[in-house]
Amino acid sequence: MGTGPVPLSLLPDSAEVREDGVSIGGVDLAELAERFATPLFVYDEATLRHRCEEAAAAFDDGVAFASKSFLCGAVARLAHESRLCVDVATGGELDLVLRAGVPADRVILHGNNKSVDELARALEVGVHRVVVDNVEEIEALARLLAGRSVDVLVRVTPGVEAHTHEYVRTGQEDTKFGFSVASGAARRAIERLGGVAGVRVRGVHAHIGSQIFETRAFEESVRTLVEFTRDDDFDELCVGGGLGVPYVEGESAPSITQWARAVRTAAADAGLDPAVRVIAEPGRALVAQAAVTVYRVGVVKELAVRTYVAVDGGMSDNPRPVLYGSGYEAFDLARPLAARPRRVRIVGKHCESGDVLLDEGFLPVATGRGDLVVTPVTGAYGYSMASNYNRVPRPAVVVVSDGEARAVLRRETFDDLARLEVG
Ligand code: LLP
Repeated sequence: MGTGPVPLSLLPDSAEVREDGVSIGGVDLAELAERFATPLFVYDEATLRHRCEEAAAAFDDGVAFASKSFLCGAVARLAHESRLCVDVATGGELDLVLRAGVPADRVILHGNNKSVDELARALEVGVHRVVVDNVEEIEALARLLAGRSVDVLVRVTPGVEAHTHEYVRTGQEDTKFGFSVASGAARRAIERLGGVAGVRVRGVHAHIGSQIFETRAFEESVRTLVEFTRDDDFDELCVGGGLGVPYVEGESAPSITQWARAVRTAAADAGLDPAVRVIAEPGRALVAQAAVTVYRVGVVKELAVRTYVAVDGGMSDNPRPVLYGSGYEAFDLARPLAARPRRVRIVGKHCESGDVLLDEGFLPVATGRGDLVVTPVTGAYGYSMASNYNRVPRPAVVVVSDGEARAVLRRETFDDLARLEVG
C-alpha cells in the first residue's frame, strides 16, 4: 500500500474517474450518496454481468453463483439470466432465490448440517442438486424420498491445504465439511448412496477454501477428484468456489477464465473423460469487485500516535477486517486522483475498539468531516454478513446501469429493527 492515488483497477468495470468524482454505471457516486444517504453499497450491473457470463462461458453447464457472497433477489435473477445455477447453503437462501423467481431446477443445495425441513423443501421443489455432506443426511434423504428422486453430488475433502486464512480453508482433512477421500469415508458414502432408491449420484464436489490466489491448489484438488472417480460412471465434477480477488494495491489474481483453464487442463491431464462436465461455484470472484461502499466521514481524531477517521458505518456493514484481518483501500470521493500521503485508521461508529474498517488507510490531507470516503471491492461477504450490532440499520443497496440507479435493498429503519419485539 502506498501513498499514491487509489489503484483504479480495483473499481468496478464501468467506473469513470474524474479529478473531482467517480461515476459507476454512468451515475455519479456523490449524487447517489445524496439521494440514498450513507453508508451505501453501490453495485455495477455491468461488472456483475461480465463476471457471471465469463463463468458461464469458462465452465460447463451447471456452474453456479455461490449466493452466500451476496444475495438479494435482483442478483439471484441476474445470475440466472447469465446462465448460472445458484448455490444456496441454507433454507433461508433457498427461500430467497425461489421467491426471486430462480427455477428450482437451477438451484444447488449445500450445507454441512442441513435440517430435515431444508432437505424436505429441496425435494419438494425439486432442486437441481443436493450436495451431500454427511451420513446423517444420507439417512434423512432415504427416509424423505418416498418414491421421488434426487440428483446429488458428494462433497469430498481432497486433503489439499489451500494458502488462505484458516477460517476459510476447507479442503484439508481436519474440517467439518464433507467426506474424506483419504480415510475411505467418501467411497463408503458413494456406496451407501448407491443403495438408496431414488438417489442418482451425478458426481463429486470439493471446495478447498476461499480467497485463493494461485491455481495450484485447485489443480491438485481436481487431480484428486479425477483419480478418486476414475472407475465411477459420473458425469459431473465440481471444484467449488474460492478464486481470490485483489482488494489492495499490489495484489493480483487469475481471471475466472484463467482459473477454469487451469482446472480443465489439470483434469484432462489426469485423464478425465471429456464428456464429464467440469463445473465450479464462485461467489467472491463474481461479486466482490462489482461494488463499492460509500461512507461519510464524521469525526477525525488526531492523536500523537495516529489519526482516526470515523465513518458512519463500520463492522456491521463490513465485518471482514475484524474477522479475517482483511485489507481494503479507501479514497476520498471528491479527490479520487489525489495523492494520499496521510496514514490513517478508518474506523466505524460501533462501540468497540475492534470496529476497524482499514487498520492502515491512506487519504489526502484535505479529507475531513462531511467528506465521502469510498472503499472498493466490498461486493462479497459485506452485506451478506452485515449485522445490526448496536442496532445500526443495514445500508441500502443500489444497482447502477446505463445512467440509472435502482435500490434493490432499501435501507433498514428503526421500525424494521423493532419488528421482532414481542413482549
Ligand atoms: N462453495 C462452497 C461450498 C463454499 O463454502 C463457498 C464459500 C463457495 C462455494 C464460494 O466461495 P468464494 O468463491 O466466494 O470464495 N466470509 C468469508 C468467505 C467464506 C466462504 C465460505 N464458503 C470472507 O469474507 O472471506
